[in-house]
Amino acid sequence: MPPTDAQEQRESPQDASAALPFPDHKKFFKATAQSLIYLCLAAAASPIFRLTLTPAFGALPTTNNSQDNFMVAISFALGIFSSKGNGMFGDLISLLPLATAWMPAILSKLLPWTASAMGPEDGPRVISMVTVHFVVCLTATAIPEVMARGGIKTSMEKWAAPKMMFLAILTFMYLSVEKSMSDGFTKLLANFGFLTPVHLWLLLAVAYSIAFPSRIVLLAIPAVLHTQFSNPHFTHSAVDASLRPHNWTMLERQWSNTGYISVLDSFDNQYRVMRCDHSLLGGEWLLTSDRQQTEGWQVSEPIYAVFQMLEAVRLMELEPQIPDAEAHALVIGLGIGTAPKALVAHGIDTTVVELDPVVHKFATKYFALPANHTAVLQDAVSWVQNEVSAPEVKKYDYIIHDVFTGGTEPLALFNAQFLSNLRSLLTPNGIIAINYAGDLALPLTTTVLNTIAHVFSASQCKIYRDSPREKDALPDSASDSDFLNMVLFCRNAPGPITFRKPREADYLGSKSRRYYMLPKPEHEIPFPESDAGILNLGDEGKFAKEQGKSAVRHWRIMRKVVPAAVWDSW
Ligand SMILES: *[C@@H]1O[C@H](CO)[C@@H](O)[C@H](O)[C@H]1NC(C)=O
Ligand SMILES: *[C@@H]1O[C@H](CO)[C@@H](O)[C@H](O)[C@H]1NC(C)=O
Ligand SMILES: *[C@@H]1O[C@H](CO)[C@@H](O)[C@H](O)[C@H]1NC(C)=O
Repeated sequence: MPPTDAQEQRESPQDASAALPFPDHKKFFKATAQSLIYLCLAAAASPIFRLTLTPAFGALPTTNNSQDNFMVAISFALGIFSSKGNGMFGDLISLLPLATAWMPAILSKLLPWTASAMGPEDGPRVISMVTVHFVVCLTATAIPEVMARGGIKTSMEKWAAPKMMFLAILTFMYLSVEKSMSDGFTKLLANFGFLTPVHLWLLLAVAYSIAFPSRIVLLAIPAVLHTQFSNPHFTHSAVDASLRPHNWTMLERQWSNTGYISVLDSFDNQYRVMRCDHSLLGGEWLLTSDRQQTEGWQVSEPIYAVFQMLEAVRLMELEPQIPDAEAHALVIGLGIGTAPKALVAHGIDTTVVELDPVVHKFATKYFALPANHTAVLQDAVSWVQNEVSAPEVKKYDYIIHDVFTGGTEPLALFNAQFLSNLRSLLTPNGIIAINYAGDLALPLTTTVLNTIAHVFSASQCKIYRDSPREKDALPDSASDSDFLNMVLFCRNAPGPITFRKPREADYLGSKSRRYYMLPKPEHEIPFPESDAGILNLGDEGKFAKEQGKSAVRHWRIMRKVVPAAVWDSW
């Protein structure tokens, strides 16, 4: 018998619910909201993981030019793909709050081990396989589960097109949420100085235990205790305990907008360094009473003494000479402040542009940077651009460009546009000194030198390499032979590049200035003959591979300069 009209009306909604993937609005929205929450939890794990790794591996090896978050997105897709929505991963999923709570403890143990056994290329990849990939993949399996409970069918028998669509859309959403979370966490750490990635892990663990409630979360208590009392990444007494056997101590640390910044003292050699991620911004041999009495030191001496050569801008023979009291100097990149400190001591009106406020704070607090200078704590590219387009441009007699942070030079500060803007901030009689380190055999180095020659004209510039290797000059002198530190001096107007003989007052009581400040003619090197082009705005990405290689080499050098434990216990 054919169905009556009434029967058909009663049955059709049920039929529709079997055919369409959303039967019930309320259930549908609940399932969707829960899925989005799970997606956000998964997307938070991988940036927090990267933040935990950067101090031990450096920013570039950790992210490896974003290959890494792409790999994690694949784990995410795999999790969704392999979940049939039938509860098969239920028990494992309930482990997630536990896994995230234990993550700081696990990473604090795994970091030293993988770093020494595998180095910066394989280390981050291997750690991520056993930690963050697991968390993200498992979280993703919860999404089809919750959708199935909401009545939304995501599991089809075959590789059906709708399922692939669903997978692609979710993975794309994952990648974009991951990106904004990553930016958000960096800002959060920079704005709240007390926060660390360990706090973020613990917050994530709380979010996970709300999203996946389970009684075994009590097993997270030992993890929290470990974090509170013995995780060096979190507790000052724990980091002290792990540094003391190596005769190092940490004075202060803080996360900031350029990464993890800390100040450390070495007892053995009596020196103090400032660190940013896996790199040293600079350091000073401390002025001990022994050094004062037996070696006649009057001031603490920088460990990277060669960069005192940057101060030779004051010694350039100009017509007319610029008296210090009338001179204006601009310093791009502070570090521990060796060059600006000297300029200020000579009474020169000095403006320092530094991106990282914590670097400025620590330079003042631990490296005696005097307060009588103008500090501009922002990105040099936009600041210089604004200055150049201001109605009344303030001009400088000396510009010192010292932004090399080792391994990964910020190329935005070496492109032709930025350098020309800097040139237009120079007085007609002005001079710029640029610190650069690189391998003359590599295209990036010749491109940067070409760019400087193009902007300032090679005939108005001279390049000086650092002195032939001397053991006590640079802690990283154990490095490869074709890697050079260079200082370039360029005049704004044509003229000879010669330096007057320094007077006693120019040395500011420093012994190392006597050796390093005046550029030595025998260290002059010619501009390389090369048809490498110049570095233009937007070209920076072309050198990603080369910068990755140099980051890896820099990582190995840094491990020799300072014990591995200091880097890994950050
Ligand atoms: C990035 O990954 C590539 C390929 O996996 C590898 O060859 C390279 O050494 C890595 N770079 C860094 C900086 O670790
Ligand atoms: C630390 O200093 C002590 C005493 O000066 C010395 O015996 C020890 O070998 C040093 N440890 C390291 C790792 O250099
Ligand atoms: C900064 O202060 C020091 C000591 O008070 C003084 O010697 C120096 O000339 C000052 N520099 C400037 C630029 O005012």
